[in-house]
Amino acid sequence: MPLHMSVSVSRTSGESLTSQIQKFIREEIETGILRPGTRLPASRRLAEDLSVARSVVVDAYGQLTAEGYLESRQGAGTRVVHHLPQQSVVPVLLDNGREPAVRWDLRTGGANTLPFPHTVWLTAYQRALQDSGRGHDYPPLAGEAVLRGELARLLGRWHGVRAAPGKIVVVGGFAQGLGLLCTALREAGLEEVAVEDPGHPGQRRFITDSGMRTVAVPVDEEGLDVGALAATSARVVLVTPAHQFPLGVTLSERRRQELVEWARDTDSWIVEDDYDGGLWYARTPRPLALQRLAPERVVYAGTASKLLGPGLRLGWLAAPDELLDGILHAKVRQDLGTESFTQLAFAELLRSGLFDRHVRRLAKTASSRREVLEDAVRRHLPGAEVLGAAAGLHAYVRLPRKVDEAAVVAGALRRSVLVRGGAGFHSGPTRDAPALVVGHAHLPRVGVAQATEEIAAAVTAR
Ligand SMILES: Cc1ncc(COP(=O)(O)O)c(C=O)c1O
Repeated sequence: MPLHMSVSVSRTSGESLTSQIQKFIREEIETGILRPGTRLPASRRLAEDLSVARSVVVDAYGQLTAEGYLESRQGAGTRVVHHLPQQSVVPVLLDNGREPAVRWDLRTGGANTLPFPHTVWLTAYQRALQDSGRGHDYPPLAGEAVLRGELARLLGRWHGVRAAPGKIVVVGGFAQGLGLLCTALREAGLEEVAVEDPGHPGQRRFITDSGMRTVAVPVDEEGLDVGALAATSARVVLVTPAHQFPLGVTLSERRRQELVEWARDTDSWIVEDDYDGGLWYARTPRPLALQRLAPERVVYAGTASKLLGPGLRLGWLAAPDELLDGILHAKVRQDLGTESFTQLAFAELLRSGLFDRHVRRLAKTASSRREVLEDAVRRHLPGAEVLGAAAGLHAYVRLPRKVDEAAVVAGALRRSVLVRGGAGFHSGPTRDAPALVVGHAHLPRVGVAQATEEIAAAVTAR
């Protein structure tokens, strides 16, 4: 039984001690250094060895227990579990690993979307089946013509995207779109993709699993730091310009121009991930798509995951001619085309105007949750602020500097609120202020208010 464990922690890295201990132990377990069943030192002893408060270690152990790495039993101490969480089979874009059941789940992505419009979908699906008289054959590789036409109109109307139907490829969600793009770009000789930092941790993994390297580029309140991007050797960048994930900020006009200039000057590619496009309820108008500024350099990517449901696995790319062939070649090797009936039903939803109506309703719901969140943060979390545009399904809540983010996340979990801290969205240790990434739109209003109060209690309990 190890009564002592040497954990390396730094007091100058800017990362909280809880988070450092957590990461250290997680890595030791994942790499097999700490074997299943190994008993960890008592929290008091480890805290003494590291000269930290005992609560720091308790919180780190608590979070690792919640993640399924450790188990603790009265009298038996805390041990490494015998069966580790099966990370390899969890789809990398998702945040839906093994978690305890909680009252309020504020994670983004996964099933935490707004309710699926069953009746509307059923009507569209029935019409699609009746009208098409098809479905028994392989779908056209780039997608059903009727859907590509509807998408070209919708994206032009909503976001100013300039793409003829022939430039659009229907894909199995952004996940497949990104995979196809990585394949096409790699085959064109490119090896690196610049990604936003903070950004989507699943996307970083997804890119590296596709055989490319990621290069982290910082994001500030104007969005991606284009100067920092230009200083890298990357010739591809993945950005979320309308509503940066996770900060929620919008890429400023100045940075948009700089980014497009960079792409043109260096023959680089911009991948515009418009993951929650259409869910905009800020008072200021939504900026038009970046793609509009440089259709020859930007791949615009959209998805039905946030607007309808991730279960449909439906997304679309509007790509420059130079990349279209590579994308289609990659797709033919993967799946011979996206499933037809879903495409036809979605086209019917777009054609009939039901989709517009549905999205207007979603935006209203999401907007009311955001209002509750802003109000609750103002009242219960002094010094915190909700960052970025009122849009999409989540918000980024920046906490006061003195707050220990990992401890708040662990404290919230003890109060039955599952929320992610901002640190996990960074590609390495960060000096950014502590923060929470709050998926709010899927909760009832009372849930947003209660969850915020529990978080506030976790902050003040320190
Ligand atoms: C930043 C971001 N991009 C894209 C997606 C959508 O991926 P998909 O269309 O594969 O569901 C998500 C979903 O969670 C996301 O968070």
